[in-house]
Amino acid sequence: TKQPKPLLIRRAGQLVTLKGSSERPLIKGQMRELGIVENGSVWIEDGKIIMADTDEAVLNRFGDRLSEATVIEANGRLVTPGLVDPHTHLVFVGSREDEFEMRLNGATYMEIMAAGGGIHRTTRATQAAGEEELYRESYKRLDQFLKHGVTTIEAKSGYGLTVEHELKQLRVASQLNKDHPVDIVSTFMGAHAVPLEYRDNPDEFVRIVIEEMLPAVAETGLAEFNDVFCEKGVFTPEQSERILEAGKRYGLKPKIHADEIEPYQGAEVAARVGAVSADHLLRVSDEGIRQMADKGVVGVLLPGTAFFLMAEFANARKMIDAGVPVALSTDRNPGSSPTESLPLIMNLGCLKMGMTPAEVLAAATINAAHAISRGHEIGSLEPGKQADVVIWDAPNYAYLQYHFGVNLVDTVIKRGQVVVK
Ligand code: NIG
Ligand code: FE
Repeated sequence: TKQPKPLLIRRAGQLVTLKGSSERPLIKGQMRELGIVENGSVWIEDGKIIMADTDEAVLNRFGDRLSEATVIEANGRLVTPGLVDPHTHLVFVGSREDEFEMRLNGATYMEIMAAGGGIHRTTRATQAAGEEELYRESYKRLDQFLKHGVTTIEAKSGYGLTVEHELKQLRVASQLNKDHPVDIVSTFMGAHAVPLEYRDNPDEFVRIVIEEMLPAVAETGLAEFNDVFCEKGVFTPEQSERILEAGKRYGLKPKIHADEIEPYQGAEVAARVGAVSADHLLRVSDEGIRQMADKGVVGVLLPGTAFFLMAEFANARKMIDAGVPVALSTDRNPGSSPTESLPLIMNLGCLKMGMTPAEVLAAATINAAHAISRGHEIGSLEPGKQADVVIWDAPNYAYLQYHFGVNLVDTVIKRGQVVVK
């Protein structure tokens, strides 16, 4: 969509540009360098950023075109790139608040799943649902993401678990990407759970994922990534590696749910297959951390899951200090993290994972963009990038973490258009 008039956002108290980060994700001390411009402006044309600099510099260059522009006054507020959520299970129907209650009464997540609830339950509901119903429920979640300042998400299939129903989920994601302002990057996750009927022969299901689902998904072009739940009682590291290697042969880039509930060498698998990201990492080994840093695998941390499953949080501090590029995500799903609030996740990053306010902002913007291979298009405010911008009801980036538990989004701009006001 073309922006008819140029758009000028001016008088930002702090303009977080994160400039110079498009090539590769930020690591270590780089995650604290946000490229902040005090008293900043952004000049936008045709949905793209033309200039992000001081009010003075932007006025010098575009002052004579001011009368043709739409002007948004930031009035001393914080302006950042749109947030990016690199790990969601967006497309499903139903909710599982009764399982939440069971967990509060002592049942565990894996017990509920082993008894046929959990992912299996959402799979049954999603298989039974038509595309319109899936579309409608998922659309509402996208609205919530947008209201919380998220302008791009990754979305996984994985509640279909058959060729037919995995493709259905991916088609719905593709249609939502076209219709909703939030951009969606799609991941195939046929290996999200071993269906109950294959419980005694999981390798047969792995064969179906590799020989039937992957080729069918690749043929439609509906997914860019391939993900697997590598977890004790779900897919072994060996099965995970086979599935991810097979995906690579179809041009699908690997991602992995790694070391979430038990230590299981998932990070090591990620390094070996050259995964773009390894996600969760609550129980990652020191060796896994070292290998991820070595290979530049982005660590996507999902503290909403630790919070909601009442588990120990991932050690972000250790990973950042070891040189792992860290990103943050909601993991939006009906079982272990039913929230679209990436700002809440950022807050948990600070208070529960030892991250600083600067680091969580880098993790939820440019590093998150790199975790879905979009570092060149989104995640920072630099000339040529997509004009996805959030104006916050906050004077500076630290305030964003300090004033917690409320939605501080003031205005969201997607591709140069105001979509939340
Ligand atoms: O990322 N870990 C596996 N999958 C999701 C949970 C999905 C569900 O419970 O429905 C996760 O935590
Ligand atoms: Fe997940």
